[in-house]
Amino acid sequence: MKKITKICCIGAGYVGGPTMSVIANKCPEIQVTVVDINKARIAQWNTDNLDNLPIYEPGLKEIVGESRGKNLFFSTDVDKAIDEAQMIFISVNTPTKTYGKGKGQAADLKFIELCARNIAKVAKDDKIVVEKSTLPVRTAQAIQNILDNTGNSVHFEILSNPEFLAEGTAIDDLLHADRVLIGGNDTPSGQAAKDALSAVYEHWLPKERILQTNVWSSELSKLVANAFLAQRVSSINTISALCEKTDANVQEISRAIGYDSRIGPKFLNASVGFGGSCFQKDILNLVYIARSYGLNEVADYWEQVIIANDYQKRRFAENIISTLYNTVSGKKIVLYGWAFKKDTNDTRESPAIAVADALLEERAEILVYDPKVSEDRIYADLDYLGTRTPQENRKLLKVTPDPIEATKEAHAIAIVTEWDAFKTYDWQAIYDHMLKPAFVFDGRRILDTQTMKKIGFNYYKIGE
Ligand SMILES: NC(=O)c1ccc[n+]([C@@H]2O[C@H](COP(=O)([O-])OP(=O)(O)OC[C@H]3O[C@@H](n4cnc5c(N)ncnc54)[C@H](O)[C@@H]3O)[C@@H](O)[C@H]2O)c1
Repeated sequence: MKKITKICCIGAGYVGGPTMSVIANKCPEIQVTVVDINKARIAQWNTDNLDNLPIYEPGLKEIVGESRGKNLFFSTDVDKAIDEAQMIFISVNTPTKTYGKGKGQAADLKFIELCARNIAKVAKDDKIVVEKSTLPVRTAQAIQNILDNTGNSVHFEILSNPEFLAEGTAIDDLLHADRVLIGGNDTPSGQAAKDALSAVYEHWLPKERILQTNVWSSELSKLVANAFLAQRVSSINTISALCEKTDANVQEISRAIGYDSRIGPKFLNASVGFGGSCFQKDILNLVYIARSYGLNEVADYWEQVIIANDYQKRRFAENIISTLYNTVSGKKIVLYGWAFKKDTNDTRESPAIAVADALLEERAEILVYDPKVSEDRIYADLDYLGTRTPQENRKLLKVTPDPIEATKEAHAIAIVTEWDAFKTYDWQAIYDHMLKPAFVFDGRRILDTQTMKKIGFNYYKIGE
């Protein structure tokens, strides 16, 4: 296998952008071109002011600043980049289907198929095609069929190389990956392709962290990893509900069980629920696959993780309503945070959306503050639900740039994202200018119960 000197990545999103920036940064002899059909997104990646990159991730702008224009390029010329590269990553979105067979569960692979057809059309020499997107097990077969049947008789070697980064810590996760997974065919050309991709990662990761498997194990491992992570969150969240009824404290439970080395301490933070583009979509996909093989008990088991997450979000909103004397109509409620977690501007499946929607149904007047999410994004998320008209959403919910001013004369504050800055606010001053009794609902457990109570707040923390 020739040495890789040119890489193309199709899809300049939350995965393609950061992943390729790190590869380019660590492999100066490889030219990396990230392409996307979204012209606005590519323009943002090429912006002079690195504060305006389309994605916010700690450490990203520094890496882009170092490599862009040297061996890292962002372009809308998809065909040219495909033609020139020896290795092509597909990193496009694979959302849950919203139509037809598998609606609401299966992954929508239309973007993947378009990429495969495009590669087949353009390629004039042998290519390694790397699935970076999260895909249902056995997708590589479909990609291979499309490439082999519509291509120009060149040889395509398909690899699965799922991405395990978490938003908010993407750069650190990429630089210090626990492991990299490369699935490929068990043939001489498959092995050569796996080794070629491995050599890219070996620029900065020890070889023993690069695991090689067959394609199907690699594809399925990604779904299973996300299912296990989400399952831990849902598990502790169900216990948070029990704690609230029994005077047990969920943090003490997490600590007590986390010390058990078989359980471990991570992913045991109770919260308003998990969000993000991946957990729900990937579990639904796993459920769909299991059901399609007639494995209904397997499907039911994993589906429960989603059901528990929906319950947690609903429970948080219902607690706000019942605590505020069973009516929030006309009451001013400030939402702190809209992103699905701190240190990202991504709002996909954010619990904030479900909480806001439930409160708006009760005619609350909502003010939202998030340090990184734009007003347009917030309204787009709400409008997408279709629960009420865009006009009504804009009438009942306002977005504010001033988190402190927003709480003047407010009835309640609900913390839905764990931004560090929220901990540093002058909560006494906030209390002083809120309506009394003043309520804080802490969906992320970031504030100190004693301090908040001492100030005078009616303070509700998930799991206590
Ligand atoms: N976001 C995460 O934290 C994360 C982590 C691990 C894996 N993944 C997986 O990675 C994949 C990408 O996720 P993302 O969050 O980066 O998505 P994203 O929506 O942020 O980015 C995908 C990009 O692909 C572009 N695109 C779609 N079709 C295209 C085409 N035919 N040609 C060129 N560009 C095209 C879109 O315009 C978009 O900019 C998904 O399968 C996801 O499940 C995501």
